[in-house]
Amino acid sequence: MKKDFFEVTDFTTEEILGIFDLAKKMKEKPSDYYEALRYKTLALIFEKPSLRTRTTFDVGIQQLGGFSIYLSPAEINLGKRESVFDVAKNLERMVDGIMVRTFGHDIVENMARYARIPVINGLTDFAHPCQAMADYFTILEVKGTIKGLKIVYVGDGNNVAHSLMSAAGRLGAHIVVATPPGFEPNLKAYFNATEAGKATGAKIEVTNDPVEAVRDADVVYTDVWASMGQEAEAEKRKKIFAPYQVNAKLFAYAKPDAIFMHCLPAHRGEEVTDDVIDSPNSVVFQEAENRLHVQKAIMYELMKNK
Ligand code: CP
Ligand code: NVA
Repeated sequence: MKKDFFEVTDFTTEEILGIFDLAKKMKEKPSDYYEALRYKTLALIFEKPSLRTRTTFDVGIQQLGGFSIYLSPAEINLGKRESVFDVAKNLERMVDGIMVRTFGHDIVENMARYARIPVINGLTDFAHPCQAMADYFTILEVKGTIKGLKIVYVGDGNNVAHSLMSAAGRLGAHIVVATPPGFEPNLKAYFNATEAGKATGAKIEVTNDPVEAVRDADVVYTDVWASMGQEAEAEKRKKIFAPYQVNAKLFAYAKPDAIFMHCLPAHRGEEVTDDVIDSPNSVVFQEAENRLHVQKAIMYELMKNK
């Protein structure tokens, strides 16, 4: 296993399935793991806001017998108050692992290059791998399988879309990403997922047609139209993305037992309507809870020998 976790494809298919297995056990009987990372400490660096990521990493490390230290955007000011190099060189002497949520993906990669301890990506502009790991774990829980399922992401070709594609590649799913023209996923993410998919039979597709994408889907997924850092574009995007709203009419093209997923936070009435996110097909809160179990398994695998 690699030292760090930047994107889902950093894990092999076997490693991902091993993490799912461990997460399942941790979810079923948390008390079996209360000492698993005893006295290990995780620094949580946040340069953007968070509810789920902060709570699940914080609670997760404590449930494994460790501690966390929360470093807010006001505290570190990565690269401005202090260089990424200096932050890494300090923290590696003080803690056993670092989780970073920031803007540039290169910041997380540099942090990992300079620090001897594991670095976990808690979201960058490019990827949100812990989210995708929890998402596919949830799909496995609900559907009993991943291979061959049609997973449709509708909306912005953003960090969440990239990681869902990467995971599809490693796990042999058929993912279709439907975005407005000009908002397609990054080509590097597309090629990375396609490359990973060669060994698993995954199919990675990108389209501008939300209806054709959602037809016969097993999973329909969406995310906000303007991500953190894109707030200034929010109004302009509302018009462009309107045909990509996941409402009851669009969702009806999916299979009758299709599930609805969203990484949250949701902007109800924008990318998703209440009748979909509050429907019996929606698994969004199960998905959010699974961040905890899956990240505990990831932390354990990366930090157990540190
Ligand atoms: N899904 C997710 O990462 O949520 P937060 O931004 O609240 O951490
Ligand atoms: N794409 C969103 C995900 C939030 C969890 C963002 O980056 O803001």
